[in-house]
Amino acid sequence: MNYRHAYHAGNFADCMKHALLVSLISSFLRKPTPFMVLDTHAGIGRYDLRCEEAEKTQEWRTGIGLLTEEGPDSPLAPWLDLVRKEGGPEIYPGSPLLISMMLREQDHLICCEKHPEDKRRLYGIFTRTPNVTVHERDGYEALRALLPPQTAKRGLVLIDPPFEEPNEFARLENAVQTIQARFSNGMIAIWYPIKHRTPVRAFHMALQDAGVRDILAAELLMRPPVDPDRLNGSGLLVIKPPFGFAEQAKAQLERLKTRLNAHEWSVTQIVPE
Ligand SMILES: C[S@@+](CC[C@H](N)C(=O)[O-])C[C@H]1O[C@@H](n2cnc3c(N)ncnc32)[C@H](O)[C@@H]1O
Repeated sequence: MNYRHAYHAGNFADCMKHALLVSLISSFLRKPTPFMVLDTHAGIGRYDLRCEEAEKTQEWRTGIGLLTEEGPDSPLAPWLDLVRKEGGPEIYPGSPLLISMMLREQDHLICCEKHPEDKRRLYGIFTRTPNVTVHERDGYEALRALLPPQTAKRGLVLIDPPFEEPNEFARLENAVQTIQARFSNGMIAIWYPIKHRTPVRAFHMALQDAGVRDILAAELLMRPPVDPDRLNGSGLLVIKPPFGFAEQAKAQLERLKTRLNAHEWSVTQIVPE
């Protein structure tokens, strides 16, 4: 548990993940029926980019720091509007805060955060938000305890682990099986780092071999993924993506590539429906 997201908040990987996440959540708003989001690795929810940790790495400067000029016609606007509402770019909202801003009365967000201090800070944000629940617990373990959701028949499980453990991809494969066994129509979004292509390809293949269907991978590379010690790119794997998501993701990634001066992007259907 050494990972602290405060060092990385607002970097290119966060921008990519959060812009796409807002598109996923928007898809649920097309119908009035309630939805539930389970954010298994939630973080602290709100990041002050003037803090010591962010000052030290300055990672946000090549992420959200380059997006302040984006206008209302940008494909990134739905996400950036939420960032600005929170006081961004200086105050940067993480996944639980972004999701909570999009919930209606009938919808529900459940957050898991294993680090006690981070959980305490996250809990503090939502003391007056009745449809957000915060747990101090292991996000993987929570899948068995909290699925299927009690409050809705549809929803999203977001898994955004710190990749501190060498077996994180294997844990993710198991997590997908657990989710699909308990919440078969649930949408799943998994963030992963791209350092080198080999582990990412193996992850995609393992899901395909396990019989998982309807998988889309959106990736943004800042440079060719040849140095395995660097975060060269960022991926979001979406299982059961909503209608129209691939097109939205393409437009958002193209915009991020231009603004962040990235190397390339891709949106690939790994397995069809
Ligand atoms: C990448 S950060 C999450 C960022 C957040 N999802 C966002 O987008 O704003 C990963 C978080 O997972 C927490 N964490 C690590 N292992 C965990 C586990 N097994 N279960 C739940 N949380 C965990 C870390 O303390 C850290 O805050």
